[in-house]
Amino acid sequence: MKAIIPAAGLGTRFLPVTKVVPKEMLPIGAKPALELIVDEAKRAGVDEVVIVVSRAKELVRRYFEGDPQIRFAVQEEQRGLGHAVLQARVDDDCLVLLGDALVLGCDASSEMVARSRELGGAAVIGCERVPREKTSRYGILATAPDGRIVDMVEKPAPEEAPSDLAVAGRYLLPKAIFSLLASQAPGKGGEIQLTDAIRRLLAAHPVYAYEYPGRRQDIGNPDGYFAALEAFRRLERTTKGT
Ligand code: G1P
Repeated sequence: MKAIIPAAGLGTRFLPVTKVVPKEMLPIGAKPALELIVDEAKRAGVDEVVIVVSRAKELVRRYFEGDPQIRFAVQEEQRGLGHAVLQARVDDDCLVLLGDALVLGCDASSEMVARSRELGGAAVIGCERVPREKTSRYGILATAPDGRIVDMVEKPAPEEAPSDLAVAGRYLLPKAIFSLLASQAPGKGGEIQLTDAIRRLLAAHPVYAYEYPGRRQDIGNPDGYFAALEAFRRLERTTKGT
């Protein structure tokens, strides 16, 4: 199993600092946020981590070069999340961990790997409940009572959303996803959407929702970043008992 971490986004929600510092390199404690995500992937047992960067993300490369488990793929143009994942194409099942989504308070990737084993090798999508009025920010899932995903739609308006269950930054996918991505037509926003490729996977492969118990922190904007810092501090205090 491999891990893919898309980290090529422009960081427009976090300007001006992102003119020189990629949002993924902002510190959470003494480590860049991205390293916490790399650590999560390694704990889940992957044998290689592919970080997808843009040309502008030299700092990411400099920080991680020398780590024998990490390689880089370059996304030359911003053509969507599905396109970013495709640039890292691997011949193996893969965990996809979004580089601006920090999950604190649980070990989401390891738990998803365990869940997949219980389900006989099914794909697993990490998800969370969101307020109905915010469905247009997320991929939204329709599930059967046992959690199997029967449909999904990228960023639907609240009145079109099949539920309030949202894709939340973590995916465990079979290698079949790459050929689907290679033939995926642009969707929402004219971009190649990972959600659309997974939707086409549903017919051929079981895919289950996993509502992980931790909290996803979106570090791609200042408010989310501050919330992540506070949550991280709280958790550290709890673990150290101070
Ligand atoms: C991406 C995905 C979306 C998902 C979200 C949070 O959107 O396309 O399906 O719900 O991440 O994990 P983005 O936030 O990159 O626009």
